Amino acid sequence: MAIDKINDLRSRLEKIHAAGGEKRIEKQHKSGKMTARERINMLMDADSFVEIDAFIKHRCTEFGMEKEVTPAEGVVTGYGTVNGRLVYVYAQDFTVSGGSLGEMHAKKICKILDLAIKMGAPVVGINDSGGARIQEGVDALSGYGNIFLRNTMASGVIPQISVIMGPCAGGAVYSPALTDFIFMVEKTSQMFITGPQVIKAVTGEEVSAEELGGAMTHNATSGVAHFMSSNETECIQEIKTLLSYLPSNNMETAPIFDTQDSMNRIEEALNTIVPDNPNKAYDMKEVIKIIVDDGEFMEVQPYYAQNIITCFARLNGTSIGIIANQPKVLAGCLDINASDKAGRFIRTCDAFNIPILNLVDVPGFLPGTNQEYGGIIRHGAKMLYAYSEATVPKITMIVRKAYGGAYLAMCSKDLGADMVFAWPQAEIAVMGPEGAANIIFKKDIETSDNPAQTRAEKIQDYKDRFATPYIAASRGFVDDVIEPAVTRQRLISAFDMLASKRETRPSKKHGNLPV
Ligand code: HXC
Repeated sequence: MAIDKINDLRSRLEKIHAAGGEKRIEKQHKSGKMTARERINMLMDADSFVEIDAFIKHRCTEFGMEKEVTPAEGVVTGYGTVNGRLVYVYAQDFTVSGGSLGEMHAKKICKILDLAIKMGAPVVGINDSGGARIQEGVDALSGYGNIFLRNTMASGVIPQISVIMGPCAGGAVYSPALTDFIFMVEKTSQMFITGPQVIKAVTGEEVSAEELGGAMTHNATSGVAHFMSSNETECIQEIKTLLSYLPSNNMETAPIFDTQDSMNRIEEALNTIVPDNPNKAYDMKEVIKIIVDDGEFMEVQPYYAQNIITCFARLNGTSIGIIANQPKVLAGCLDINASDKAGRFIRTCDAFNIPILNLVDVPGFLPGTNQEYGGIIRHGAKMLYAYSEATVPKITMIVRKAYGGAYLAMCSKDLGADMVFAWPQAEIAVMGPEGAANIIFKKDIETSDNPAQTRAEKIQDYKDRFATPYIAASRGFVDDVIEPAVTRQRLISAFDMLASKRETRPSKKHGNLPV
């Protein structure tokens, strides 16, 4: 008798595991995609995945749905470990009703989110869905609403990672947008609110799905996504790498990794990495590579607003978040997109107790009507807000230029940097020498017999007197001017000193971030 029941259980599970059937699975594979279960197995440590709610069924009786069987309700959910740490996961199954989300499908995802919040563990959501299940109408919309609410409740409590591994339309894109990180895969994943056909019907515009919402579009143009991989296997490896930099929740710190990289490593190369000519660019990523453990860092949004670099790295085994101007792109100016990118990254680091390092070489905010009409004031304010609000250890290293509002916006002492260091070639002033000399020495230049020579002399005078780190250091805005070669050593020592930092803010419901 018992054996019959066990066989019955096995047969039920077999049907559930068969998902949408061989044909649909074959189609999935042919298009370069794995199935939901294959993705989960690749993400989780071997044999660690435990499924929940495999037997859930939909309750829809409209449009012939009462006859439709939807194995696992089109979404595989459960928990397991990734590199030994508890992680919750859900993966939508495109072979079952196109991974579309109905009432019970949503209930399964909500259960995972509730468990993850209670247990304080990250959630990885693998999205491959045609959006709200059309046959379920308002029940499907309600399902999305319940997920959005939980994504928001979980925000800043547990890391939420969204993975887009198929065409995600309508409601399927808003849950990812509420989470901390979005991964996309080249050619096989798209995100859009309304697809190409609807766009053509409404606006007459013709655009392919890939152009409209493919991985490159959202990584380089819209800034919606944070990571892009060339295939699903690579994508899953990158998710694991990202998890290694993050704590499990907002009450913990990220895991500390053993490193053979000496904390006292002196790097002479840093003494010459910044060109003597202040108008010449160099690659800030080279600076990062030299400073951090084993030269390894993980860039977040590497294709978007490349004038600023945001990345995770480690110093003496401890996770840090780095925000760095990139002189190679737009001379490292801050603009709307860079402010959005940095503002969000700062808040992510602060929410998850990841200390922040700022590498500064910024000539200012990008001028122009595009920027002003686009609201650079409001967007730039996000960086001021995020740095001021952040209570994690914050260290600012002024590598070269730090001018005007951008000096403040890259986390000056006044915005709460716990330690500010500068390299000897740092230039810290209200504005660049050319602009400053033109304004404050205008009369001298205009009335001179040789205006060009006077102008050149005044610029040099300004450079000598103000474009240095020593005035800021004499006021205590810079804690120390250091030889570049010892940067790694000094940063490790400073972060170690700051490890026990405790800082509180006035209690409030929540602040009003300039969105
Ligand atoms: C029910 C759906 C579905 C949906 C796909 N399917 N989307 N079933 N509801 N939303 C089913 C199809 O009927 C098909 O079933 C299977 O999934 C695979 O779909 P195909 O169209 O054959 O696949 P493909 O050609 O690869 O195209 C995939 C797709 C397309 C681009 C996702 O299916 C599509 O455009 N779907 C609709 C997308 C959409 O407009 N969603 C918005 C919903 S409104 P069979 O049985 O043949 O395998 C919404 C609002 C929420 O989400 C708002 C919250 C804020």
